[in-house]
Amino acid sequence: MFKIAVLISGSGTNLQSIIDNIKDGYLKNCTIEYVISDKKDVFGLKRAKENNIKTMVFDKNELKEDLSCNILKFLKGKVDLIVLAGFTSILKENIIDEFRNRIINIHPSLIPSFCGKGMYGLKVHEAVIEYGVKISGCTVHFVDHGTDTGSIIIQKVIDVKSTYSAKELQQEVLKTEHKALPEAIKLISEGRIKIDKRKVIVS
Ligand code: GRF
Repeated sequence: MFKIAVLISGSGTNLQSIIDNIKDGYLKNCTIEYVISDKKDVFGLKRAKENNIKTMVFDKNELKEDLSCNILKFLKGKVDLIVLAGFTSILKENIIDEFRNRIINIHPSLIPSFCGKGMYGLKVHEAVIEYGVKISGCTVHFVDHGTDTGSIIIQKVIDVKSTYSAKELQQEVLKTEHKALPEAIKLISEGRIKIDKRKVIVS
């Protein structure tokens, strides 16, 4: 079995897409071992519990600088892949080094645009609309030591209609996220990804 830990901070619709894709057989031989949240009482934890997945809370307000170390201590040797699905804390070097090319993140824009420090949630979509770009979408990438700078695995594109509010754009992009994240997990779990310098090559 290919063991996954999903890290969340919120509603967990991306978590749900992984659960659904395991259930319907698109993600074969994959199992979510743990759902870890850096906040108490988020809806994503409820989704996990409803699906009999073990949950853990590593409260970022209590743990502060020690958040990453605690997650690493807990997950070391237990999972094959860590999926950041709406996880808003920044992971430190130690866990990134230990899980090199085994941590992925989903970002709601076409990296390298509208990403980096401070670019999360609705802010991303507000910036997209304000700039007036005609396309947006999502990116699944490996996590390295920078913010949203790791090798890109999958991107999915949508048209930005001139009538969209930031919220509407967020909803449209989320639909692409729910396809892109399971696709990336499938490629990795089937061993179909190689990294050449920073380029991801899919076989
Ligand atoms: C998504 O837009 C994701 O790209 C971003 O945070 C949001 C989380 O959504 N990193 P959800 O919690 O999966 O519903």
